[in-house]
Amino acid sequence: MTTTDRPGGASKTSQDDALRADENLVTQADVDASIAKYGRDIYHDFDIDDPKFNEHFHDILDDIVEKCPVVKSNKGSGYYLVARQPLVRQVGQDWKTFSSAQGYQPDRPEGLPYLLPEECDPPIHDAWRHALNPFMSPGAVAGYEPVIRQDCNTLIDMFIDRGECEWVSEFGAKLPGWAFFKNVMGVPIDDLDKLVESVERGTFEPPEERPKYFAYIFEYLGNYLADRAKGPSKGEMVDLIAAGVKYEDGEMAPWEDRLSVLVDMVFGGIATTTYVMADGMRYLAENPDQRKRLVEQPELIPRAVEEFARVFPPVVALGRTCTRDVEVAGTQMKKDDFVFLCYAGSSRDPRVVENPTTIDIERETVLHSAFGVGPHRCIGSNLARVELRAVFEEWLKRIPDFRLKDGEDPIWETGILRTMKNLHLAW
Ligand code: HEM
Repeated sequence: MTTTDRPGGASKTSQDDALRADENLVTQADVDASIAKYGRDIYHDFDIDDPKFNEHFHDILDDIVEKCPVVKSNKGSGYYLVARQPLVRQVGQDWKTFSSAQGYQPDRPEGLPYLLPEECDPPIHDAWRHALNPFMSPGAVAGYEPVIRQDCNTLIDMFIDRGECEWVSEFGAKLPGWAFFKNVMGVPIDDLDKLVESVERGTFEPPEERPKYFAYIFEYLGNYLADRAKGPSKGEMVDLIAAGVKYEDGEMAPWEDRLSVLVDMVFGGIATTTYVMADGMRYLAENPDQRKRLVEQPELIPRAVEEFARVFPPVVALGRTCTRDVEVAGTQMKKDDFVFLCYAGSSRDPRVVENPTTIDIERETVLHSAFGVGPHRCIGSNLARVELRAVFEEWLKRIPDFRLKDGEDPIWETGILRTMKNLHLAW
């Protein structure tokens, strides 16, 4: 199956896409149906933190992608959201008009330090990405694979004889942290659980609560970075961060920027991959025929991993601030307005993906936006892919037959990120 053709085989051009991306199909009947079903008008009064969005995640995304080019929210000072793939691409690539320097979330809580390279624009962004990218290249991360596979087996050893586990806390929340800390950062894993919890709560607690969790992360990693700065370089990413990069004005990046880069890498490294793994595992537990297929044909796992990243996206939406008045798909945005790029919706856009609501672990080309678009495209995507392949391969070798534990329903949580709070598996 290919994903680049429209159903029916009609070819498309990017201009054609852009035109269709402007189409507003929302009717009064849609608005009424939305209020009846979700208790709000999801097209003109959207709320990314609404529990109904968590509950009806895929339905709401599909509805928005189909009908509404620019969604409006009245939360706080208000924001917009684009979810159709051509619009997400347009906004994501135009960093001069849609800046990251005011942060990735609207109404940024007071006291939350900025995260780099996520919350800055070129040239500062370029300076850091050029220096950091080599540590995360496909070649660099391939070297970590044996340790990651060993870590998968160490974790499985801890519960395999029990015949059951709570997968998120016992495996999924641990593996990405181990993979990243041990291999890339050289950070000890002793305090990882506390860091993972702080990242989660710093993301999902009400906005005014979030800064205190980030304060802990900054303090812990600040002490670690200061220690590493005193010692000799081991040539690891953390040594590069501690030494800093030179900015365009010839000055070295200040200490707070270096710490902020370390925090951003840790945040990205442990807040995301867990969810793709967890919902992928849940899907395989509930679909024995698909699971059997991967057990018998493990060469399909890389394709399944891309499909899981498409349909179980940990990054729902991150945003930009308009640097000038600008029109997007017929909506006039003003300077300082905030607009979310909904990567989760963009990966389900029928303009790009054939039969987007179908989970097809054999798709040959999976054109998804799970890792973002434009200059901020995920720096950790190569590592995430190695982790995801290792997890499904090692798990299915050891535990090929598993199911959801009776009476224990999985719980999801959604805001700008999406995650699973628990997943009880039995075998
Ligand atoms: C399946 C796993 C992952 C997904 C789906 C994901 C997704 C994303 C997305 C969508 C962005 C773009 C942000 C934007 O547009 O503003 C991003 C950026 C980023 N990611 Fe990931 N990520 C994953 C894993 C990782 C890992 C493993 C790391 C680190 C080891 C990481 C570190 C980062 C960092 C530092 C950025 C900011 C890059 C920049 O602003 O230039 N991510 N990620």
